[in-house]
Amino acid sequence: MNETPINKKTDKPLSNFLWHWFSGIIYKRHSFLHQLTLKKTLNLGHSIFSYLFRREQAQYLPPVLKVDLSPLCNLHCPICVHATPKEHSNLLSQQHFDSSQVMPFDQYKKIIDEVKGKTQAIYLYLMGEPFMHPQICEMSSYANDASLNVLVSSHFSFKFPDKKIAEIANSGITHLEVSMDGATQEVYEQTRVGGRLDYVLDNLTRLCAYKKAHNLRYPKIEVQCLAYDHNRHEVEVLRQKLMPLGIDMFTTEEGDVGSWAELAAENFNITANKPDMAIPSCHWPYAAMVIKYDGDAIPCCLFNMGKQFAKEPDRAMTLGNVFEKGVATVWNDKPYRDLRRYVAKPSLVDSETELQNSYCYGCPQLSVGTIRETIASDSPEFNIRTNQ
Ligand SMILES: C[S@@+](CC[C@H](N)C(=O)[O-])C[C@H]1O[C@@H](n2cnc3c(N)ncnc32)[C@H](O)[C@@H]1O
Ligand code: SF4
Ligand code: SF4
Repeated sequence: MNETPINKKTDKPLSNFLWHWFSGIIYKRHSFLHQLTLKKTLNLGHSIFSYLFRREQAQYLPPVLKVDLSPLCNLHCPICVHATPKEHSNLLSQQHFDSSQVMPFDQYKKIIDEVKGKTQAIYLYLMGEPFMHPQICEMSSYANDASLNVLVSSHFSFKFPDKKIAEIANSGITHLEVSMDGATQEVYEQTRVGGRLDYVLDNLTRLCAYKKAHNLRYPKIEVQCLAYDHNRHEVEVLRQKLMPLGIDMFTTEEGDVGSWAELAAENFNITANKPDMAIPSCHWPYAAMVIKYDGDAIPCCLFNMGKQFAKEPDRAMTLGNVFEKGVATVWNDKPYRDLRRYVAKPSLVDSETELQNSYCYGCPQLSVGTIRETIASDSPEFNIRTNQ
């Protein structure tokens, strides 16, 4: 059978991986260095120590939080949980979104109040569009006032009035990443399905002008262009068009292929564990916590995304509820500690078979295998390439 490797990213040489992480840190360095205090540095140091020495218990708070203000989105990018399902889509066809899925501001405040002084950065999105939350600017200000650096990624394809542009500029967002994968509407909309390039350009033009007129250092504005075969010829054209507006950086990276929604153990034929290494195979359970709009915590945004927004969500695929227990308790509860032991030693799943029900089981960081053929052939890149 002609099977496709589990995840395109696992095909990339190690140097690509390292470059991805390193360049991300370089481009977003202000989000980690700005407002750094001794207390936050010690918290971060503790996290690095725990990772390197494979500690199960975490005597510190997550240095980074990723908070899903809302999973809602008005676009349908083919890589995303919001894509239109295809005939053979498995998890993608089970996705369910409704207007009640927004994080309440009072619960959000409790999270910030708890991590204030220890956590260094907060990402305000997961698998949705952060500007779908009507209070995003106030929520960002609240985090910034608590000296957390705020990172937002948006498609920015809205008809924002000038008042909203001013609010965004003054919201305390440290780093705003705008996703644009083309310089013409025809190319752009192949990945940003339902998006309007003219809206994005108009918003960026006014935001840059506002920042300049008011001499604002933040938000740093990054435009990220994902490169695919269908848009490679427009990447440089887009860069030339945007830099004169006054954006702070234009970045590009290879776009993922396939459907993020389908990255879950049930779609993989797992053939072996990855080897046990001297340091854990994944840093996420030591470095960051992802909190969904309803308070459920998950360890990362790379796996099981299709499980999170299915009509019948799999509660086993979460690590506890932060609204009910608080960040520190969930961070040290059994599900998190079990994951730390598992990522520190992937072979543990052979002796502790209940780990097969854990969040990380089947993840390419810990397992070797292939993705089911029907799911692989459903990939958007497959469709884009055959359309050419
Ligand atoms: C789920 S969205 C959340 C925020 C927002 N809705 C947006 O689209 O920017 C996550 C974003 O991750 C970005 N991304 C980063 N690296 C990527 C990669 N290698 N392949 C595909 N998408 C990537 C995409 O641009 C995508 O827009
Ligand atoms: S804009 Fe972001 S959240 Fe919306 S469909 Fe695209 S990737 Fe998903
Ligand atoms: S091992 Fe995989 S699923 Fe688990 S936290 Fe790391 S990236 Fe996420």
